[in-house]
Amino acid sequence: MAVVKADAYGHGALRCARAALDAGADWLGTATPHEALALRAAGITDVPVMCWLWTPGDPWDRGIEAGLDMSVGGMWALDEVVGAAKAVGRTARIQLKADTGLGRNGCQPADWPELVGAALKAEVDGLVKVTGLWSHFACADEPHHPSIAAQLDVFRSMLDHAERAGVRPEVRHIANSPATLTLPETHFDLVRPGIAMYGVSPSPELGTSAELGLRPVMSLKASVALVKHVPGGHGVSYGHHYVTEGDTTLGLVPLGYADGIPRHASGRGPVLVGDRVRTVAGRVAMDQFVVDLGGDTPSPAPRPCSSAPATGASRPPRTGRWPPTPSRTRSSPGSGARPAGLPGE
Ligand SMILES: Cc1ncc(COP(=O)(O)O)c(C=O)c1O
Repeated sequence: MAVVKADAYGHGALRCARAALDAGADWLGTATPHEALALRAAGITDVPVMCWLWTPGDPWDRGIEAGLDMSVGGMWALDEVVGAAKAVGRTARIQLKADTGLGRNGCQPADWPELVGAALKAEVDGLVKVTGLWSHFACADEPHHPSIAAQLDVFRSMLDHAERAGVRPEVRHIANSPATLTLPETHFDLVRPGIAMYGVSPSPELGTSAELGLRPVMSLKASVALVKHVPGGHGVSYGHHYVTEGDTTLGLVPLGYADGIPRHASGRGPVLVGDRVRTVAGRVAMDQFVVDLGGDTPSPAPRPCSSAPATGASRPPRTGRWPPTPSRTRSSPGSGARPAGLPGE
């Protein structure tokens, strides 16, 4: 199942959904029903689409008509979907969600027999079909975290209960990206990778993207808007968290946190300008940030101090650890660079 929630982690839900299906994904997964309905409306009609973040009053009827696989993690949800199935006159595809330890949505083990029993009764009545049994890990990105084995045990026993009661699911699943990459015993009938599918490591403890054999699919590029000479001792960007060491050139990149440049890249994020990796100088602002070009001008060279658009390119390097380890950040007071601006700055 290719997880394309949150606009495919900002990459574009429809394009990524189509790319994932072309690459062999059998299922698509979203959080909200609205995201899943948007995929159907855009023409993705011939593959199962599951969505798991339902709120009372959500459009179960439209989900049924669109043939979505709808997660049900409690009696309130089962009641709503059963009511919608009666109103629509069609069987709803539902997947029962077990809270095996994440403590988010899903059914607690103590409440599972009631939910399973009620779902089976609705199945006999032709109102629902239980297509899946599923859960979600809390700490799969922390190698050997004791909750992984504990959740797996609980999942197995909740599966066992449901299957002995008569549920015949098409799929059983629990694995997110880190579990998909490192825990084969968690794969069951399908896996639900999100972040790894976009080429990003789920956590530094598991390795860099490159070490995991992943290739980030997104690069963010912009033309350098301005290059200008400044003297030493010049503060850069809000709060003056970066001060130039000596005469230098500064390049202004017209991208900021509104475009997805993380604010915690302030003072530390790598940026490729021309063919050299630079570091964000000072704070990332809403729509722009600055790099210290050390006297260079990007190639092809824009005219220094010109406000006319120039043609340097900026994007993160393709490999390497992000965020950089503390030893690689420039933080010595008086050296020109002050500690990185952190979230909240
Ligand atoms: C229920 C569910 N499954 C799968 C995923 C994908 O997780 P990841 O991006 O770690 O692969 C998410 C994302 O948070 C999720 O909420």
